[in-house]
Amino acid sequence: MVDLRVNIAGLKLKNPVLTASGTYGHGGEFADFLDLAKLGGIVVKGTTLEPRQGNPAPRLAETPSGLLNSVGLQNNGVDHLIAEHLPRLAGLDTAVIVNVSGSTPEDYAAVIQKLRGQKAIAAIELNISCPNVKSGGMAFGIDPAAAAGLVRAVKRFCDKPLIVKLSPNVTDIASIARAVEEAGADAVSLINTLLGLAIDVETQKPKLSTITGGLSGPAVKPVALRMVWQVARAVKIPVIGMGGISSWADAAEFLLAGASAVQVGTANFSDPLTPLKIIDGLTRYLQRKGLKKVTEIIGGLRGV
Ligand SMILES: Cc1cc2nc3c(=O)[nH]c(=O)nc-3n(C[C@H](O)[C@H](O)[C@H](O)COP(=O)(O)O)c2cc1C
Repeated sequence: MVDLRVNIAGLKLKNPVLTASGTYGHGGEFADFLDLAKLGGIVVKGTTLEPRQGNPAPRLAETPSGLLNSVGLQNNGVDHLIAEHLPRLAGLDTAVIVNVSGSTPEDYAAVIQKLRGQKAIAAIELNISCPNVKSGGMAFGIDPAAAAGLVRAVKRFCDKPLIVKLSPNVTDIASIARAVEEAGADAVSLINTLLGLAIDVETQKPKLSTITGGLSGPAVKPVALRMVWQVARAVKIPVIGMGGISSWADAAEFLLAGASAVQVGTANFSDPLTPLKIIDGLTRYLQRKGLKKVTEIIGGLRGV
């Protein structure tokens, strides 16, 4: 048997395959399709202090190999998460990670304070990278000082491993990763979506109500992989990789590039079984390579 367990700054996962925030709801939506306990973990939808409606429709546009979205952090707020979702999530035999968003450092800190002591939660993922909101969001993720300031503002309230989710919409992602590491992040995850635009040539208008949106899916994978590789070399804290992963081989590439775990996002929309297929495929790959532990391939990229 291959040992798929990974430990990310104290976050213990039975395998390195998680579902990405915003693409898996609160887990329950997918419970009819697969056994959630087989997942390494679930990252729930971005949670804010107050409920948010998100952006007006249309807020999804398909591109040839990716999805452009401007959902804009629609969610029912942290109190609703605690009352309605955490009791059920607590009963699941998988790690539950809450993705936290806000407009100001105080907002983020207030959400994290409310989540303190919640046994259902294994870790917090701090979203400093949402491209679809007017204030906060990506603004924190594109400037090293702002990113570090936010991490410092929330870290003392956080009683779980703090994973900081980075934006790819920067020229030097390694400098942002180093800044959040110095400020106390326990791990980083990347990438969030890449800013994009789609135009309807008949109406000659943007396809999204917000004009621009965030691109995800296979189109972004090479960019994500390059950034994971760069960040893994730049920091000592663990890296969680995502962006266009839809097969076990994609996941293996991210692990080889230095990610200790991966998240699957857009691929869940076309096949909700993707994470389980990736777990099976990784197991067979490791067996074929004669390896006993998945940790043996992390950062194992050769010839560089
Ligand atoms: C519809 C949609 C909603 C998303 N919502 C969130 C969110 O609330 N918080 C967040 O950090 N990332 C969010 N993301 C970004 C994903 O978690 C992930 O970082 C990104 O889609 C890249 O991975 P993928 O190519 O596998 O989808 C969202 C992505 C999509 C497609």
